[in-house]
Amino acid sequence: MLAELNRKFGQGDAAKFVAGYGGLPRIDVNTAACTGSVYLHGAHVTHWQKRGESPVLWMSEKSWFEDAKPIRGGVPICFPWFGPNANNATLPAHGFVRLKSWSVQSVTRQGDDVTIALETKSDEQTLAVWPVRFTLVHRITFGATLTMSLELTNLGGDTLTCEEALHTYFVVGDIKQTRVAGLNGVTFIDKMDNKARKPQQGEITFTGETDRVYINTCGASEIIDPALRRKIIISKENSHATVVWNPWINKSKAMPDFGDDEWTGMVCIETCNAADNALSLAAGATHIMRAVIATASL
Ligand code: BG6
Repeated sequence: MLAELNRKFGQGDAAKFVAGYGGLPRIDVNTAACTGSVYLHGAHVTHWQKRGESPVLWMSEKSWFEDAKPIRGGVPICFPWFGPNANNATLPAHGFVRLKSWSVQSVTRQGDDVTIALETKSDEQTLAVWPVRFTLVHRITFGATLTMSLELTNLGGDTLTCEEALHTYFVVGDIKQTRVAGLNGVTFIDKMDNKARKPQQGEITFTGETDRVYINTCGASEIIDPALRRKIIISKENSHATVVWNPWINKSKAMPDFGDDEWTGMVCIETCNAADNALSLAAGATHIMRAVIATASL
C-alpha cells in the first residue's frame, strides 16, 4: 500500500508515505522550509517545524495510534459535532472523522511548499448517526507557515447544520508563564463554570483547568511563550469561534492517553465553528474554514 501511494502521490524526499506509529500510514514532509507529518487516520497533522526552529505542534507520549481511536496531540479534526453529541451520549466525542482513515486526493509541491489534500465522505455508517451526505477535504500546506483548510460540501438536498474544529495542540515552554492575546473583550462560554458566559478581560493566563469556547470572534490569537521566547500566531478565515483548553492536573491524570505531567507543556487554541457559531450550509454549497499558523521570536 505504501509503495503504491508513493508511486501515485509521492514527491521524493519532499513528501513520502511511511509507516507511522502503530503502522498507520503517514506522509512525512521534508523541504528547505520545514518538516511536517500527517496521518491518513483522521487527516491528522502531528508535526510541523520550521527549519532551524523547534516543533510547534504538541504530541502526547501516551497517544494511541490505533484504528477507531483518536490521536492525542497535533490537530484532531472535530466534525460534525464538537465535544459530546448533544442527543446521544454514546456517540464519540468530537464526531467521527478523527476516528477513520481518509483517502488521498493529491500531493503537490510548489517551491518549498507541499500541499496535501485528504478526503472523507458520508457513507452508510456516517449516515446512520448523522443523516447528511457530505464530502470533507482537509487541505494542508506545509511551508514557512502551516495552512490548514477544511472544505465541507453539502451533497444533500437540505441545509445542514454542523460544528467543526481544527483542534490544534501547541507546544509551550511552561503553561504557567504562557499568555494568549487576541481575545480581549470577547465573550466566552466557561465549561468549568456551568457554561456561564463571561467577557474576556485582557490576555488569557492559566492558573487551573481551562475549557472555554470564545464566540463571535474571527480574529487572530497569539500564544506568547516567554519560556521558549516564541510567539505563535493563529490567523483564521470563516471561523467564528475559538476554543482554549488546558486540562491541568486532575483531568490529565484521568485521561488514559495523556501523560500525568504533560499539561505543563501544551495549550490548545482551536479554530472552530461551534456552539452559538455552529455552521449552516445550504444544499450544494461549499464552506472553507482556514487556520494559518506562523511563529516569531519574542
Ligand atoms: C476540548 C474540549 O476541545 O477538547 C474539552 O473543549 C475536551 O472539553 C478536550 O476535554 C479533549 O477532548 P478529547 O475528546 O480529545 O479528550
